[in-house]
Parts: sequence; structure tokens; C-alpha cells
Amino acid sequence: MTDRVSFELKAVDGRARTGVIRTPRGDIRTPAFMPVGTAATVKAMLPESVRATGADILLGNTYHLMLRPGAERVERLGGLHRFMNWERPILTDSGGFQVMSLAELRKLTEEGVTFRSHVDGSKHFLSPETSMQIQRQLGSDIVMCFDECPALPADEARVAESMRLSMRWAARSREAFGDRPGHALFGIQQGGVTEALRGESAEALKAIGFDGYAIGGLAVGEGQEAMFGVLDYAPGMLPEDRPRYLMGVGKPDDIVGAVKRGVDMMDCVLPSRSGRTGQAWTRRGQVNIKNARHADDPRPLDEDCTCPACSGYSRAYLHHVFRAGEMISGMLLTWHNLHYFQQIMQGMRAAIAAGTFAAWEADFHATRAAGDI
Ligand code: GUN
Ligand code: ZN
Repeated sequence: MTDRVSFELKAVDGRARTGVIRTPRGDIRTPAFMPVGTAATVKAMLPESVRATGADILLGNTYHLMLRPGAERVERLGGLHRFMNWERPILTDSGGFQVMSLAELRKLTEEGVTFRSHVDGSKHFLSPETSMQIQRQLGSDIVMCFDECPALPADEARVAESMRLSMRWAARSREAFGDRPGHALFGIQQGGVTEALRGESAEALKAIGFDGYAIGGLAVGEGQEAMFGVLDYAPGMLPEDRPRYLMGVGKPDDIVGAVKRGVDMMDCVLPSRSGRTGQAWTRRGQVNIKNARHADDPRPLDEDCTCPACSGYSRAYLHHVFRAGEMISGMLLTWHNLHYFQQIMQGMRAAIAAGTFAAWEADFHATRAAGDI
């Protein structure tokens, strides 16, 4: 165990990297996929089940938790880890991005953002200083800077102005975070799909100095080609000896393409959210379990998957419980999806360590192209 957060790079294969982030609450093997536990739960999963899928770290949200149940309440109850019964590392997003997509009547100034809660209409204020305070009250291990991400479509002048505001907020976040051994603060690069703005943002963040660096403002509707276009240069603008975190990504092929381009961490609601809407992600592609063709199918979702959904249940059963609106449907599909995403990460970590990432990637794409799902 360590009393501070550190990052050890173990192997590099092309631009893909594998390593470990050490924290007092445990190690995070990278590349890492972080399941999303927005409201102090990964929906439909017990924390020990999330761990059993192979997750080393969860993501929580400042925005949701400050509104309900409230950061002070969580602090009084012993912090977010104790509250949700997950004692391993937690990364919290800082709230700005969620305010922009979820809150009502937002008012943005240099100081911060005032908004009304989507839960009960109550009025709130978030700034770099209040976001740092809330993430401290939650007890987050990896704290994210308070930033802003312009909604698409946005012209370059608006993206530049927003990125510069986020960089001023990054400096205030660093100042307000202070020195907290055992906890890390990550900066967030912005700049849209413009290389010069991404470069300016990276320089601003490096001048401030962070424990890790996120790539923000992607997966917001620009499409995979444009996202990969940015990832062809953005990770290389960030320090090699710090973790790089691509926020809000993604589908399995997005994740693989991001790791190939030098990303170490990712998070996405996709495996858990789509599990509750009857969508399964498998090695061979997507399966929509509500489709009538599964009604009499005795085969598992994926015959090579070792998760509980594939070990004990047929597609016919999964189809039935989805159609019947039974809770076990979301539980089993979420478990399978999270298991599959973690299998991808494990496969990439092993391949990078062995220097066989290119072959692993070719097999990943070939298995999907083979179809038969
Ligand atoms: N989640 C996905 N994208 C972003 C981003 O640009 N900023 C923050 N804070 N969170 C995100
Ligand atoms: Zn499975």
C-alpha cells in the first residue's frame, strides 16, 4: 500500500500503454475502464458484483450527489466509499459537464455556473472552488478539475473562448484543491477538434501541473472518425509519465481505438445503461435481447463468456425476463456487459505487455466482422 497516488508505466506497444495507478485504496490497472456509478450505485449491480467483473475503480458524479443526497450528508455518513459500500478507488467528475447537459436555467459567468436542479428545481452554484469542496466531502480519490464543454455544434471562436475559461478554472481548481496526499487532481484538456486549441490547452495544463490529464470535449456527437482524428495527436501533447483519461468513451471499438492511440483510462454509461434496455455487447457484436428470434433459443448470449448471465441462462430466458419487465433482466445484462468491457481491457493489458497489441486488435475486429450473433 502507498500513501500517495503514483503512476507506473509497465510497457508500451506502438502508442498503446499498460501500467498501474497506485492509490491508498488500491491499484488501478491500466488501460482501465471505469463503470459509472452516478448516484452512488452502478445501477442493477451490487458493488461486489462490479468488482467481480474486474473493475478497479468507479466513477461518481459531483452534480448528482450534491443535489441528492447532498455532499454534506455523504460526508457526515463517512464519505462516498463507506456510503455506497465500495472501498476501492473512486474518480468523481466535477459537475460542469453534467450541469450543461442536465440542469435547467443555467447562467455561466467567469465565477462559475448558477443553475436549477433537474430533480426539484432548487437553485445551486458550482465553481472551481465549490466543486473541489464537494469532491473533498465525497472523499473522491481522483478529483477532476471544474471545466466547461461547449454544446455542439459550436464554432471555433466559441470553442476557443470556452477552452480558455476552462484553463482559468483549471488554475483555480489546482489552487482550491491544495495539497492532499493520497488524492489526485486531474486537469481536463479542451479545444474541440482543432489541433492548435488542443495544443494551447495542453500547454496551459502542463504549466499548472496535474497528477493526471483528461481529454474532454470528445464523444459529444462529432463521430468516431473525428474523435480518432483528435486522438491521433492529443495524447501525445500530454505528459508521458502521467495517466491520460478519455472522458465519456465509449463503445468497444471506440475504447480499443483510444487505447491504440495512447489513452490509459475511460468511463462510459454504455454497458450499464444498455443492459437495462435489452442491449448486450458481445465479442461478435451487439445482441438486442428483445428481438423475437431469441424466444426459443437455448444458447447463452456468448458461449465463451464466463459471466453469470452466460453461465446459467439461455437467450430464451433473457428474452422472457426482458419482455416481462423483470428486474433480473437488467441485472444479468448489465453484469454481462460490464464483464465483457472488462475482458476487453484485460485482453488489451495482456497484449500490450506481451507486445502483441496489433494482433490482438486484428482479432478483435475479425471476430466482430464474422458476425453470427
Ligand atoms: N465527460 C465527458 N466529457 C467531459 C468533459 O469534457 N468534461 C467533463 N468534466 N466531463 C466529461
Ligand atoms: Zn456473459
